[in-house]
Amino acid sequence: MPLTARGARPLAGRIRVPGDKSISHRALILGALAVGRTTVMGLLEGEDVLATAQAMRLLGATVTRTGPGAWTVEGVGVGGFAAPPETLDFGNSGTGCRLVMGAVAGAPVTAMFDGDASLRRRPMRRILEPLLRMGATVVQAVEGDRLPVMLAGARDPIPIEYATPVPSAQVKSAVLLAGLSAPGHTVVVETEATRDHTEKMLAHFGADVTVVQEGPHGRRITLVGRPELRAASVVVPSDPSSAAFPLVAALLVPGSDVFLANVMTNPLRTGLIATLREMGARIEEVGARQDGGEAMADLRVRASALSGVEVPPDRAPAMIDEYPVLAVAAAFARGTTVMRGLKELRVKESDRLAATADLLRANGVAVDIQGDDMIVEGQGAGRGLPPGGGLVATHMDHRIAMSALVMGLATEKPVAVDDAAFIATSFPGFVETMRGLGADIG
Ligand code: S3P
Repeated sequence: MPLTARGARPLAGRIRVPGDKSISHRALILGALAVGRTTVMGLLEGEDVLATAQAMRLLGATVTRTGPGAWTVEGVGVGGFAAPPETLDFGNSGTGCRLVMGAVAGAPVTAMFDGDASLRRRPMRRILEPLLRMGATVVQAVEGDRLPVMLAGARDPIPIEYATPVPSAQVKSAVLLAGLSAPGHTVVVETEATRDHTEKMLAHFGADVTVVQEGPHGRRITLVGRPELRAASVVVPSDPSSAAFPLVAALLVPGSDVFLANVMTNPLRTGLIATLREMGARIEEVGARQDGGEAMADLRVRASALSGVEVPPDRAPAMIDEYPVLAVAAAFARGTTVMRGLKELRVKESDRLAATADLLRANGVAVDIQGDDMIVEGQGAGRGLPPGGGLVATHMDHRIAMSALVMGLATEKPVAVDDAAFIATSFPGFVETMRGLGADIG
């Protein structure tokens, strides 16, 4: 499904991007592990989350769509999963696959996990290693612990204290979900704090979770095992990682003025906004509020002249999914932008470090990768616009596709992508939403 974005007139209007992907996966999984009927409003109905919904059904929960974004989950209780009658197919979704591996590891069932060609390339050892320590067994896997993986859950899960070797909310979450079935305390220690939606939502469903600061940037999370999770109501705010695309588009297309409603502003997710503000972006938060333990606000974004900055490595966990679109913004900035500590980008839906550099180069922007750092030479202020005119290979990666299309709205020549189909994994309606603001994408 190729698609092309062309130079646009100013973008204007008020939009609400779909629900947060991380929270949507977690609402379905915790709903399935709770007793009673959980209601979810604003669920992201993207392919990734729908795969998790189907996995919960195959594990015995009753998952029903009652209206647009409105879902109910009748849970089976902690330890209550049934053996799934078929393979759990997570498509493109690393989050769904890895979190459900954690939940299955704590249940006495065996399940086959699989996904598409992108997910089959991604590392699973980081998840399986702590789960094996907790008593789960890998019955079958492809060389290098890749999918398809058959995982047998532990009959008597062992609580562990686990220091995550990489900053990963997925690893942290998998250990905590397995720890639900273990007696005593399951502890995860992270040296860099990652998104904390699992901890927050576990507490929302009645679990006893404590979080304390550990070192300058880290956290120690302690979960008391074997709680009875109680069904809850979850309202899903808009996904800041999806909002990032219209937000950067509004900054880059001259004369734009866009409102993004109801965007989650959890500080562990807003590294992009902080960075763009340092670059000179005009982003205002209006009506900041809290719902279900998560912060949110409306954002007003106006076209802005940007300058290059240095993005420190310790900011990476708070904007890990936003580097491709930040690199696009950096291409339009005056001066050089240096982004440090991007190792984890190599193991996302694609090798995002390489794919982002290729995206920029295909459109006439100078970019260099030095170790785990990316350096983008901006074209702004007097040096003209980035030329554009490239055809970008998206490598089954939704965020590469959306970043390229955002770029094409402001380059001299159009930017095309080879395949926009994967946008539906996280941002169904992206093209229509952008067109609604005045973008020329077709
Ligand atoms: C996610 C965690 C991040 C992020 C992904 C969603 C989550 O992955 O890239 O899109 O919901 O826990 P890692 O935990 O591998 O960094």
